[in-house]
Amino acid sequence: LAGQGVLASGRGSNLQAINKAINGGKLNAKIGVVITDNPEAPALDYASDNNIPAVCVNPNNYKNKIAFESAVVQTLTGFETDLVILAGYMRILSGYFLKNFPGRVMNIHPSLLPSFPGKDAQRQALDYGVKIAGCTVHFVNEGIDSGPIILQTTVPVLETDDVNLLSERILNVEHQTYYQAISLYAAGKLKIENVSVSDKTGLIELAGKL
Ligand code: GAR
Repeated sequence: LAGQGVLASGRGSNLQAINKAINGGKLNAKIGVVITDNPEAPALDYASDNNIPAVCVNPNNYKNKIAFESAVVQTLTGFETDLVILAGYMRILSGYFLKNFPGRVMNIHPSLLPSFPGKDAQRQALDYGVKIAGCTVHFVNEGIDSGPIILQTTVPVLETDDVNLLSERILNVEHQTYYQAISLYAAGKLKIENVSVSDKTGLIELAGKL
């Protein structure tokens, strides 16, 4: 049975939300493996505590990015990964990696893309003064937080917000949004019209209603 491979670098709250959706019967999917690039990532402990195969592929042990990514690809392939799910994975994937999983890598980002890609998205939104913020789940291409958008959820920005308060409000909706996007994929309801992994845009057609 093919499953999902989750790549994480840190806390792993999105990984937890996805796993809870699976265990609670809200998402028909299977996490085959969790891979971190950081031996200290709490996501690694969460996976092993929850009987999910957990592997750290430490970039320090590889001579360059391709060698590192090739080890990640081999690990994913070894666990029969169909869909790669980035959950707080803080590295840019190369074209080499993406060619191994064409149209099969998803990411979540804590802004309404294409606004505020990159680091500190919530801080960028506050600094800009937007009144609506949110999260985006999208397919990954070679750009930074770019690629066909699957789902977005909005939250209000309040006068009294600081980065922590806004991040927490966004994180809450991330946890709802990610498993819904994975569910659409698992049900075969997502189709990327433009298959080139390096194109910045592409159209998604929903073959069914949410
Ligand atoms: C989440 O807010 C996710 O959207 C963000 O990192 C956090 C990871 O939290 N990702 C990015 O900024 C990607 N550019 P988690 O480890 O608790 O899931």
